[in-house]
Amino acid sequence: NNNRPIFKSVKALTESPELTSLPPSYTYTTNSDDEIVADPDEDDPIPIIDYSLLVTGTPDQRAMTIHDLGKACEEWGFFMLINHFVSKTIMEKMVDEVFAFFNLREEEKQEYAGKDVMDPVRYGTSSNVSMDKVLFWRDFLKIVVHPEFHSPDKPPGFRETSAEYCRRTWKVGKELLKGISESLGLEANYIEDTMNLDSGWQMIAANMYPPCPQPELAMGIPPHSDHGLLNLLLQNGVSGLQVLHNGKWINVGSTSNCQLVFVSDHLEVVSNGKYKSVLHRAVVSNKATRMSLAVVIAPSLDTVVEPAKEFLDNQRNPAAYVGMKHRDYMQLQKSNRLNGKSVLDRVK
Ligand code: SIN
Ligand code: FE2
Repeated sequence: NNNRPIFKSVKALTESPELTSLPPSYTYTTNSDDEIVADPDEDDPIPIIDYSLLVTGTPDQRAMTIHDLGKACEEWGFFMLINHFVSKTIMEKMVDEVFAFFNLREEEKQEYAGKDVMDPVRYGTSSNVSMDKVLFWRDFLKIVVHPEFHSPDKPPGFRETSAEYCRRTWKVGKELLKGISESLGLEANYIEDTMNLDSGWQMIAANMYPPCPQPELAMGIPPHSDHGLLNLLLQNGVSGLQVLHNGKWINVGSTSNCQLVFVSDHLEVVSNGKYKSVLHRAVVSNKATRMSLAVVIAPSLDTVVEPAKEFLDNQRNPAAYVGMKHRDYMQLQKSNRLNGKSVLDRVK
């Protein structure tokens, strides 16, 4: 189809011919010269939440886990989730299918090259090629999987594996949101009900970061927060993710079994700012190909997302955000470059 936008993927760029230096259009300069990158501090480690205690623990264990969950959402907006019952087998199969997609011939992948954030299956590069002044070292595949399930037709096993993976992670997301509702002093079903998760919006976003000839000059994905309530991320054992915590970019390191969970913009809005969506970015390396797979758990598109009335009191605690339909939030995001919390700032 000749009407399709055709772009140069990072993967194609690195392959023909072999690349020895970074093309100038990918040269990224950070906004601040005083930024600090650090490994996690022993005295302030990245929070770890044990999912099994939340769903199969004793009442005491569950209460303690909910407490830890609230603390993690408040202090980090990020945590590592262990014992989550998404089996190693299904996670590995999913990683394999994602690699198989990116290993298709470029013409096959470009059938899914989409323009609009609402396209249900969208293959692309950078963040938004038409808006980014600097290109990022990343190719992606984004698929809307709930309330309606979509999938690319190739590779052959993708649909089935992804359907299974999406069902399991959706369940985990819903259970976490129950615990998070309780941690906010609300009914367990509060977020599920008010955000209409039965017709909720779930998207998977696979990110591919090929080895980069001059990684210190490039950026995989610039600092941003995610839309939606939660984002559950799986990575292929290669590091690159950094989260901003107390003014420092913390290296999350290489994980392959745990789910990395991000508090996202809509949870910040619902909690009226008590829980903050976490700023994160991905740096690249010259050694290995890094892959990450994000599962976004979000309100239904027609839900107006606004601070929970239960928290508001006009004098002492006024609403810090205006209500906005999820659908309109996505349109705002489309007209914004991926840039810090610039989208969220527009509902403040
Ligand atoms: C993302 O923010 O969507 C990707 C982060 C990562 O690749 O670790
Ligand atoms: Fe993200």
